[in-house]
Amino acid sequence: MLDSKTPLVEMTDISISFGGIHAVERASVDLYPGEVVGLLGHNGAGKSTLIKILSGAYKRDTGIIRINGEEATINNPRDAKAYGIETIYQTLAVADNVDAAANLFLGRELTTPIGTLDDAAMESKAREVMGRLNPNFRRFKEPVKALSGGQRQSVAIARAILFNARILIMDEPTAALGPQETAQVGDLIKQLKSEGIGIFLISHDIHDVFDLADRLVVMKNGKVVGTARTEDVTKDEVLGMIIVGKVPARAIPGPGALSE
Ligand SMILES: Nc1ncnc2c1ncn2[C@@H]1O[C@H](COP(=O)(O)OP(=O)(O)OP(=O)(O)O)[C@@H](O)[C@H]1O
Ligand SMILES: [Mg+2]
Repeated sequence: MLDSKTPLVEMTDISISFGGIHAVERASVDLYPGEVVGLLGHNGAGKSTLIKILSGAYKRDTGIIRINGEEATINNPRDAKAYGIETIYQTLAVADNVDAAANLFLGRELTTPIGTLDDAAMESKAREVMGRLNPNFRRFKEPVKALSGGQRQSVAIARAILFNARILIMDEPTAALGPQETAQVGDLIKQLKSEGIGIFLISHDIHDVFDLADRLVVMKNGKVVGTARTEDVTKDEVLGMIIVGKVPARAIPGPGALSE
């Protein structure tokens, strides 16, 4: 039976190599409903590669993925979507020249019984989902290129959750945004969390995730250095994990932990 003790996602002993490079080596991470897990590490640490295995963009060499406690077969992005896994990348993947509703339904448009586009239904659903995420949003009739970065990101997030995503992967979602827009995305994340959606929040900057994440996973050279509840560690301790791989007392060491 499903309960809050069953992880939404359990990735165990995941490895993948490209040529001779171990991009990810024996990495294990998990995610619970309504939880934000921050995935941290320097450039090239293996963060994006690990989550691309979950989103179906890459196929792992070894390891097991469980979704809601059951072993999952994820060989491509379509498989991942069928498990309720959606991904938001740093490059805002929105179509600039059409409005919010058109973006939400891009490639999965609603049609009327006679086969024409059901614009009224799409706009009404867009207003409902955007209203949940960003109640102040009013600019439904404008092409999204006219929107602010934060508003555009809320369109991308609405698109991801429209089809009932339970697991959201956000890879550097604020990389292209200013401080005010970054704060807006933070509010969106809190809203999604309150709806029970689990979120992997990836960043190479601790400041982006420290205030939002319930737990932190640090990677270095393709390996997990350690996992900690955010409330159990200081920013300096997390920096120590990122930079030298030193794991503080209240964190759980992984295969990449510095051995003394
Ligand atoms: N398709 C690929 N082919 C070859 N090597 C790859 C491929 N994808 C990733 N790598 C390598 O795997 C390693 C991990 O890269 P990855 O993109 O996962 O790092 P990251 O932690 O997301 O870094 P960043 O913070 O820069 O986004 C790097 O050495 C990278 O060059
Ligand atoms: Mg990356």
